[in-house]
Amino acid sequence: MTMPEQTPETFRNQLTQARERVDHVLDEILTTLPFAATDMGKAMHYGALLGGKRLRPFLVYATGEMFGVTAENLDAPAAAIECIHAYSLIHDDLPAMDDDTLRRGKPTCHVAFGEANAILAGDALQTQAFAILAARPMPDVRPQDRLAMIAELADAAGLGGMCGGQALDLAAEGKNIGIHALEQIHNHKTGALIRASVRMGAMSAGEAGYAVLPALDTYAQAIGLAFQVQDDILDVIGHTDVIGKSQGSDAAHGKSTYPSLLGLKAAQDKAQALYQESLAALSQLEEHHYNTATLRELANFVIERNS
Ligand code: IPE
Ligand code: IPE
Ligand code: MG
Ligand code: MG
Ligand code: MG
Repeated sequence: MTMPEQTPETFRNQLTQARERVDHVLDEILTTLPFAATDMGKAMHYGALLGGKRLRPFLVYATGEMFGVTAENLDAPAAAIECIHAYSLIHDDLPAMDDDTLRRGKPTCHVAFGEANAILAGDALQTQAFAILAARPMPDVRPQDRLAMIAELADAAGLGGMCGGQALDLAAEGKNIGIHALEQIHNHKTGALIRASVRMGAMSAGEAGYAVLPALDTYAQAIGLAFQVQDDILDVIGHTDVIGKSQGSDAAHGKSTYPSLLGLKAAQDKAQALYQESLAALSQLEEHHYNTATLRELANFVIERNS
């Protein structure tokens, strides 16, 4: 995937290209696994590949390519992060969690394949992520950087990351929590995987990537939080047929969200402020002569998106 001069339209094309690229990788993996033809195998394919934006893989490609790493070297972290994300969505929708019936415009995985298959599909997508990251060829990536990516993804997905954030989210249902507690929930349940996407893209470049990780972390932190703020906003003002999820689900479940805590306008202002923060972080990279055009467009997309 090449990264030409940016306009919103070229950005959309890049997003499509990244989606097609990672979908090809994922489809090949998921259709050739043993038991791919069972209901559980089909549930994995359904949960990972039917709809969705592939924003996290895109972040891996865009960040890695900023350092001159080729897409071939980035397929493994891109596919791995999407496996973790897909598993997180399948489990997030389960009756014991958000109890949602619509995802990406389709019945949720447990509605389509039953709860047991949805739980197992999520479990297997999670381990598949690490199988990909450990074994898929990354010809120009140093073994120690691959190892660091495995540790990165494990931390981001686990108790100190996404899962921990999900537990806090569920514990906050029906409660009046403060803005700091809400920020902590969002930074973990959603921010952690977004940060890991950017970090793995940088790690693929070795020393050059590590040298600017602090600025990239600041960028990723800002867009990660902005992404969930916008998700909360869309739950209020989005349309079910566009977002592909049941609008109003958060309110129905007494979720703690930015709009519920601060009101819609303040939530929108927060998203804008985070966007500006992300741009400030990128300007530090520009001082090192990196072309941040794609990451800038992506930050804009995060807060402007309607699905
Ligand atoms: C939805 O993520 C769940 C959150 C972390 C807010 P996305 O909006 O990236 O979902 P897909 O993959 O595009 O369906
Ligand atoms: C989900 O947050 C975060 C994860 C799946 C880790 P939400 O519960 O708000 O996501 P949606 O709105 O169901 O996609
Ligand atoms: Mg949830
Ligand atoms: Mg949910
Ligand atoms: Mg949501």
